[in-house]
Amino acid sequence: MDIQWYPGHMARARKLVQENLKLVDVVIELLDARLPESSRNPMINELVGAKPRLVVLNKFDLADEEATACWIKWFADHGLPALAVDAAHNRGVVEVPAAVQRLAAERIAALVASGRRPRPPRCMVVGIPNVGKSMLINALTGRRATRTGNRPGVTRGRQWVRLARGVELLDMPGVLWPKFADREVAVKLAVTGAIRDEVYAPEEAAVWLADWLLQHQPGALIGRYGLEKIDHAGGILEQIAVKRGLLGAGGRPDGLKAAMHLLKEFREGKLGRFTLDLPADR
Ligand code: G4P
Repeated sequence: MDIQWYPGHMARARKLVQENLKLVDVVIELLDARLPESSRNPMINELVGAKPRLVVLNKFDLADEEATACWIKWFADHGLPALAVDAAHNRGVVEVPAAVQRLAAERIAALVASGRRPRPPRCMVVGIPNVGKSMLINALTGRRATRTGNRPGVTRGRQWVRLARGVELLDMPGVLWPKFADREVAVKLAVTGAIRDEVYAPEEAAVWLADWLLQHQPGALIGRYGLEKIDHAGGILEQIAVKRGLLGAGGRPDGLKAAMHLLKEFREGKLGRFTLDLPADR
């Protein structure tokens, strides 16, 4: 989570991922189901090339169900098989090895046809920080949480873990940089916690979120905090601060505390399930 991306980091991350990609038959592109577009690495198509790819939308427990179904169809229509999982609660994860096996079948068959011995299909997980790469690897391998780390370019001894269906998984995710140059993407990443609150002003992220909620599902925000009926986000942090008793010096409503509170509740799913990128917006 604590990556500040500089050109050197990106070059190293890219090189490492490219080296590992050579070893696998299938790439698992892990995305945040709340941000199927904004949580993609900007170079992913170039990096993966023609290699079979499985898109996995993680954290579907926090995303809007209908929107997730639309995104799965959208990816399929664009030639990318996709499925949704909730790695934190091990839901949908069993589908992953089966999908990898299907996607690798042609490559393995070609190996055999060229006279080589059949070998297990191999895959690796790639994605930007915080999409749940460690969580998914742990869920797939049945391990308890160990942080696989998010430092780009860090090489540890490569290890393969055997999953169901004889599939082998590289026990180290490929960490890629996000599309932070785009302001709208950056604020969405900040809202979901993929860009740290220390790096992106929480008040700005919270006001953007409040505005988005007011446009898309005002009831969720108004109901949760018992707010007066409002149609724009100006002054909303003060209202939330008052309602939640988040006061600062001199008993004044504390906008920063209210921002952190709103972001935390959103990230925990307390306001409901939301997908901030919609296929229709593309
Ligand atoms: P990464 O390796 O891609 O960086 O992600 P990691 O597995 O560390 O997961 C990032 C955060 O997302 C963790 O929260 C993790 O619990 C949460 N997470 C992962 N998968 C799911 C999921 O399917 N559903 C839900 N609801 N949450 C999920 P955290 O421990 O609070 O970390 P942080 O956000 O404080 O860094």
